[in-house]
Amino acid sequence: MAYAMRTLWFLSLLIGLACCHVSSQQQCSYLANVNITASDAAPPKFVVTPRDCCDLCGTTSGCVAAVYSNYYCHLKTSFSEQVSSQGSLAIITGSPTTISSAPTTSPPPPSTTEAPLPVVTVIRETTCQTSSVCNRLYDFTCVTNAFVSGVCRGDNIRTCNAAGTNVTVTSFQYSGCDGAPVNAVVEPVVSCEFLSGSYFALTCDVEQVPATNVSLNRTSCPNGCGQGSGCTTTSFFTGVCGATNKPEGYYTIPWCYPDFVVYNYFMTTDCSGAVVFSVSEPIGAGLCFESSDQQNEIENVCG
Ligand SMILES: *[C@@H]1O[C@H](CO)[C@@H](O)[C@H](O)[C@H]1NC(C)=O
Ligand SMILES: *[C@@H]1O[C@H](CO)[C@@H](O)[C@H](O)[C@H]1NC(C)=O
Ligand SMILES: *[C@@H]1O[C@H](CO)[C@@H](O)[C@H](O)[C@H]1NC(C)=O
Ligand SMILES: *[C@@H]1O[C@H](CO)[C@@H](O)[C@H](O)[C@H]1NC(C)=O
Repeated sequence: MAYAMRTLWFLSLLIGLACCHVSSQQQCSYLANVNITASDAAPPKFVVTPRDCCDLCGTTSGCVAAVYSNYYCHLKTSFSEQVSSQGSLAIITGSPTTISSAPTTSPPPPSTTEAPLPVVTVIRETTCQTSSVCNRLYDFTCVTNAFVSGVCRGDNIRTCNAAGTNVTVTSFQYSGCDGAPVNAVVEPVVSCEFLSGSYFALTCDVEQVPATNVSLNRTSCPNGCGQGSGCTTTSFFTGVCGATNKPEGYYTIPWCYPDFVVYNYFMTTDCSGAVVFSVSEPIGAGLCFESSDQQNEIENVCG
């Protein structure tokens, strides 16, 4: 009897857990660098993660979408209008197909597993001659190479450890990283330090997967940032091969992250094949920096 009771108690505990886990599990899709202009349905609330913002919307009556920005969750009763906004994360409850179609009678099935936010770890290596904070805005000599953690570039793969405190560079005999690794070197992450004659920074940044097809303009002006005549603008769309725009003579796929832009350069006109090299630059209106030949002021604006 006691055994049966215990079994029942245990079973009900299991059922209880299953029940509550599922019901509190709001399914959301996330749109990086998107704001929703509908007015807030409630005062914004401080939350720790976009996932918390999704759950908060799921448990708030009338909430269908939210915007997560600077740790604040803005609840919305409408999912329009969606506008580009660097650093904002639009959160749409339910599955995307439900939103775009006419009102449906059956809600999407609740998901039983936590849908992780799509993230990417970007590794950046910056070398500067004079800036002791390794900041391109103050030093035209700063060059930042960007990599995606775990992805082969040439004959090596750079990978950040889970804590984001060091980077392992695994080298292979041939380009494409096939076969057995021949060497692995672990380098510590450093914010900016003087090493063999120049300043060097190595960072691991975990970022939300950036949005595609967002307008990005790289404007170069000889008379100072945004100053009148002589400016030339190269227009890109994020994630789209810029076959007609070839800074440095290469075909380019750019990506906008909240704090930097990454330009990936390719040899082929359709950007197929390997990334030849990849640089990161400052992003944002008014965040102007000198070109490496000191002839122009450059500004990257995304959104
Ligand atoms: C998002 O849009 C709202 C409404 O237009 C605006 O008040 C808010 O400042 C925007 N947020 C950001 C981070 O741009
Ligand atoms: C990587 O970083 C961690 C934490 O800072 C450190 O404990 C560990 O020793 C490092 N690994 C190597 C192989 O240097
Ligand atoms: C990208 O955006 C442009 C203009 O905003 C639009 O004309 C085009 O259809 C979009 N392409 C895709 C694949 O979404
Ligand atoms: C980029 O320039 C194009 C053409 O001038 C313009 O339509 C677009 O709005 C600009 N995009 C941004 C993000 O400023």
